[in-house]
Amino acid sequence: MSAPRFEHHTRPLGIGERTPRLSWQVTTERPGWRQTAYEIGIGAWTSGPVTSADSVLVPWPGPALTSRERAEVRVRVWGEGDAEPSAWSEPATVETGLLDAGEWTAAFVGATDDTPGDRRPVLLRRDFTVRDGLLRARVYATAHGLYELELNGARAGDDALAPGWTSYHHRLHYQTYDVTGLLRPGPNTITGWLADGWWRGEYGWNRIGERYGADTGLLAQLELHYGDGTTERVVTDGSWTWAHGPILRSSIYDGEHHDARVTPAGRQPVRVLPPATAELIAPAGPPVRRIETLAPVTVTRVDDDTHLLDFGQNLAGRLRLTVDGPAGTRIGLRHAEVLENGRLCTRPIRTAAANDVYILDGTGTSTWEPRFTYHGFRYAEITGWPGDLDPARVAAVVCHDDLTPAGGFTCSDPLLQRLHDNVRWSMRGNFVSVPTDCPQRDERLGWTGDLQVFAPTAAFLYDVTGGLTDWLADVAAETGDDGLVPLYVPHIPTTFPQFHCAVWGDVTTVVPLVLHDRSGDTRPVTGGYETARAWVEGCRRLLDDRDVISHGLQLGDWLDPAAPPDRPQQARTDPYLVATAYLAHSARLLARQATLIGKTDDATVHTELAHRVTAGFRREFVTASGRCASDTQTAYALALCFDLLLPGQRAHAGERLAQLVREAEFRIGTGFAGTPLILDALTATGHLEEAYRLLLSTDCPSWLYPVTMGATTIWERWDSMLPDGTINPGDMTSFNHYALGAVADWLHRTVAGLAPAAAGYRSLRIAPQPGGGLTRASAWHLTPYGKASVTWRREGATLHVEVTVPPGCDADVALPGQTSVTVGSGEHTFAVPFRPAGDDPIRPLPPREHF
Ligand code: BGC
Repeated sequence: MSAPRFEHHTRPLGIGERTPRLSWQVTTERPGWRQTAYEIGIGAWTSGPVTSADSVLVPWPGPALTSRERAEVRVRVWGEGDAEPSAWSEPATVETGLLDAGEWTAAFVGATDDTPGDRRPVLLRRDFTVRDGLLRARVYATAHGLYELELNGARAGDDALAPGWTSYHHRLHYQTYDVTGLLRPGPNTITGWLADGWWRGEYGWNRIGERYGADTGLLAQLELHYGDGTTERVVTDGSWTWAHGPILRSSIYDGEHHDARVTPAGRQPVRVLPPATAELIAPAGPPVRRIETLAPVTVTRVDDDTHLLDFGQNLAGRLRLTVDGPAGTRIGLRHAEVLENGRLCTRPIRTAAANDVYILDGTGTSTWEPRFTYHGFRYAEITGWPGDLDPARVAAVVCHDDLTPAGGFTCSDPLLQRLHDNVRWSMRGNFVSVPTDCPQRDERLGWTGDLQVFAPTAAFLYDVTGGLTDWLADVAAETGDDGLVPLYVPHIPTTFPQFHCAVWGDVTTVVPLVLHDRSGDTRPVTGGYETARAWVEGCRRLLDDRDVISHGLQLGDWLDPAAPPDRPQQARTDPYLVATAYLAHSARLLARQATLIGKTDDATVHTELAHRVTAGFRREFVTASGRCASDTQTAYALALCFDLLLPGQRAHAGERLAQLVREAEFRIGTGFAGTPLILDALTATGHLEEAYRLLLSTDCPSWLYPVTMGATTIWERWDSMLPDGTINPGDMTSFNHYALGAVADWLHRTVAGLAPAAAGYRSLRIAPQPGGGLTRASAWHLTPYGKASVTWRREGATLHVEVTVPPGCDADVALPGQTSVTVGSGEHTFAVPFRPAGDDPIRPLPPREHF
């Protein structure tokens, strides 16, 4: 029995829910185990046995928690036929944060220096006394800007880039830190570092500063609870002082300059700032943390003063130096994802300087890492290092949301394996407070389309439900009543117009259901339904009298590999075909959302809309026999996967898609819209062999081409690096974008064969479809009920399959050439005769009728 979990929290300190739902997992050797009842203990109180098979997100059984309340919670369960319950689980402790706005007595405080353009980070400080008998100390804190707190010089917490980026106009996260161990009886000091971050810094490719306000401010409320029952508070107010510190400048894009010789001097009283207009929110997902450090793989001296470091992996994070040298020594760090002619190639990062500077104070060895910036890089150049650079003294610190790993995939093909590893790394590089497009250039925005296509993969690889539910609340907050979903969230004005853009705005219909299906949580649907409805309604208003979308801006099949480098929207597939297909799909998904939350009348209305748009799509874009108006991989992928064709058209469309793929000699021809779907479209229409050949092609463009070029992350473009090793001339060339990595979901569901068949994987669909010459593949996923896995290997003409079904779940196992069987929880092994289609000699290409 695992200890219970509260909502989706990994460290349930300072949570924002008064009645957190509880989940637990049972470990049992008994095959087919089913829970029949549970009992929850909260402190000395117990719920008594509750007859239920549910173990995921069950309602909080006791009285609602109040602010700062701590509770110890345990659970025990009864299985089918059990007279006795299991032993009680270990207790888990939950503690709430400040649940009412009125409990904040702290005020935002900041510097009084009004020098225009002086955006130097500051240090804020207050001394205070701790009496004997301190029991517990907590700090609740946030900032307009980025902050770190120290108590007597020691960091509170271990997060980075707090409070993270949210839609600051509406929602501002606050953090809760347990600082009991950092205090001592007598005099103590609390210090806050405060920098511009996303609040006031210049960012967005139009590089505008002060997007949310002209002043940075810190809000901190330290609460000291004593054994005698009394509480004292030290809160940010007019009694704090401020001074400039050693950070000379700090910017998310440009990097940080730190002069260790500077000690804060000339303290002045702070300015008390107006209260936040945003709601202060306890985060539902994990914060950014330093997750891992990588040592350089090579260090090369490229000139008298410069070392080039290769970390062997493209990542998001920053460098940590341990260095000793004369006072005033200035060490410069520059970062890049790729090299050109043996030196950093910084053109792709555009105006982001990604340049850190550390100036030594000469007092001995010091370890330094920037605080309020991060970079996307594999390579770095270090200038000014005193003496020989010992590689052990520089590390790349990988920073991203501290998500719990939840899934993996392995297989016998090393290139495919690397592709999958690259997908994971691109996810790691882009879950940095917000699900971003890229971590390196002057962008790093929460592009909704990128996440929309990647969400199923993300939800398999990591436990993203808490964090993405939180981000979806920002999407909701920033979507207008007209259903205009921002192209990126948080939204900041740039030169990019806002418009009803298919694929991007569909984040509102797709992602809540992905989270529901993968985690069993309906809240993303309940919380996002009105936004999704507004989006679909907004698109409905774009329909013309033929029931298709035929006007307005669209990004369409963004980054079709045939689009010119500087015209990524110029795809071969008609953007209105994409938009109309997506509206039909989204109307259907919205109907599913409505059904799930009991809005059956709405469901009927949305289903009618789906039928209407599907009919319009067929009239406008599909011939009677099933050929699409855009005779492209993406058009067929959309029509097939979104079920927009009549049965008679379907087979022909599938055959035509396979033919197009063969004619392209297995080079991919899809952009953002078609890429996540094309392998499913081929598989569903009986073209598994073509799907594998497309997946495993190494020609440019293909999924594996970047791998053959040494990629360690998923590239934004199929050819971010051209076959001759030069960098794509397009202005938009990232080497770390997860969108095209959406194919990993097919690896999990179809190659390994592990998919949910009911919400939260309560039922599994185990249906591996081996092919492509693979001799083994395996996937595992930490479902809410426990670990599920599928492993298969081919030995001669036999396919051996091992399946793990978590307790409380069942699985429909469909193996090639066999009728499917349903099994209960436990370990199952199968051996079936097997000869894959992919082992056939490759069929010759049909004659090309076009020339
Ligand atoms: C981003 C994309 C995004 C696109 C849409 C790009 O600049 O990097 O990933 O979805 O713009 O226009």
